[in-house]
Amino acid sequence: MNTFTLLDTIALALAAIHFGTPLIYYHYIKNRYLNKPWDIKINSDYKPMITIIVPTYNEAKLIEKKLDNIYEQNYPRNRLEIIVVDSASTDGTPKLVKKWAEKHPDINLNLVVEDERRGKAYALNLALKYATGKIVVVTDADSLWPDRETLRKAVKWFSDSSIGAVSCLKKPVGSEVRGVEKSYRRYYNVLRVAESKAFATPIFHGELAVFRRNLLEKLGGFPKDIGADDSYTATRIALMGYRAIVPEDLWAEELVPSKSYFWWRIRRAQHLIQSFMKVIMLKAKPSKEFKIVFGIEAFLHLLNPWFLFIALFLLNMSLLVMNSLTAILLISLGLMLLSIEQYRTWITTQLILMVASVRNMLSKELAWSKVQK
Ligand code: GDD
Ligand code: MN
Repeated sequence: MNTFTLLDTIALALAAIHFGTPLIYYHYIKNRYLNKPWDIKINSDYKPMITIIVPTYNEAKLIEKKLDNIYEQNYPRNRLEIIVVDSASTDGTPKLVKKWAEKHPDINLNLVVEDERRGKAYALNLALKYATGKIVVVTDADSLWPDRETLRKAVKWFSDSSIGAVSCLKKPVGSEVRGVEKSYRRYYNVLRVAESKAFATPIFHGELAVFRRNLLEKLGGFPKDIGADDSYTATRIALMGYRAIVPEDLWAEELVPSKSYFWWRIRRAQHLIQSFMKVIMLKAKPSKEFKIVFGIEAFLHLLNPWFLFIALFLLNMSLLVMNSLTAILLISLGLMLLSIEQYRTWITTQLILMVASVRNMLSKELAWSKVQK
């Protein structure tokens, strides 16, 4: 039996990078930026013409509630239009939208129907052709805004010309929200706000993603070859020198699926990985603050999970081939720590990211299958 091998040393170094980078980053960005003032001059009464786009694919169960939720928003009805863009739903979604529109003649709703499903980004780009608002709000059918002031609170930021895009924080809801999902969101939300205060966050949410329409036009619409239309577009806007932010008081509720939770998260991780990869290929030159945020987030999503994987692989080698005592102790410690929720959440996320990178080689999941919510 060996007490300590070279493999153990390398594994420990990799594990230190794996766990150290996100911990240091989290504390750095939180302490340095989270409580900083925004330094943005906003006019809370700013109410420009806005276009709300709701993409739908088989949302019959949720679409009416979604439209009601938008209808209840405290925003002048004569300054907003809704575009529901449906891609060949087979559950009668467009019919329900038409019926809803007839019952609510005081709101301007435009239903656009694609006869073939080519994915969310295609649908959004089609909707953009009809959009007339200065500001475009994209919102998923399976999400709700709990606050009647959500739209106003999101749009007011655009009264400052430095703001190019705004998104929300997410509250998971559903019959079966797991502890893992909740504790993942806690860290995640802190990061989004702190990164926004630094300059911009590269991660946006489809539950509420708001953009200046002229910037979307400059970009030629949403990207059709990757899944994370929201995050990628926000990042491009940040690279154009505008801020892409998530304010601390803007919330959306998202229904967490009751079944296939892990596949759902894997698919979303796949999309985010695609977004980071596509941005890296651009070889753009971001501002200093955004360079750090983007660089570390890209590292954490693309490479860091593999450090853990290799560390674990080396420890197993050290245990099996060299009978290392340290390796046994470290592996046991790693397993024991799984009883702590935060650690379990972290490890789960790493597994999801690894499976997502591998799966990206097989399919980009641009027209993904619907999960039960
Ligand atoms: N028109 C249209 N066409 N809408 C679609 C299509 C499509 O092919 N596919 C999905 N949608 C709609 C859904 O009906 C829903 O309103 C919204 O797009 C989001 O779809 P979900 O199935 O709820 O996806 P998600 O919430 O798990 O995905 C999240 O992450 C994606 C990136 O990974 C959302 O935030 C998405 O907006 C985001 O693009
Ligand atoms: Mn969703």
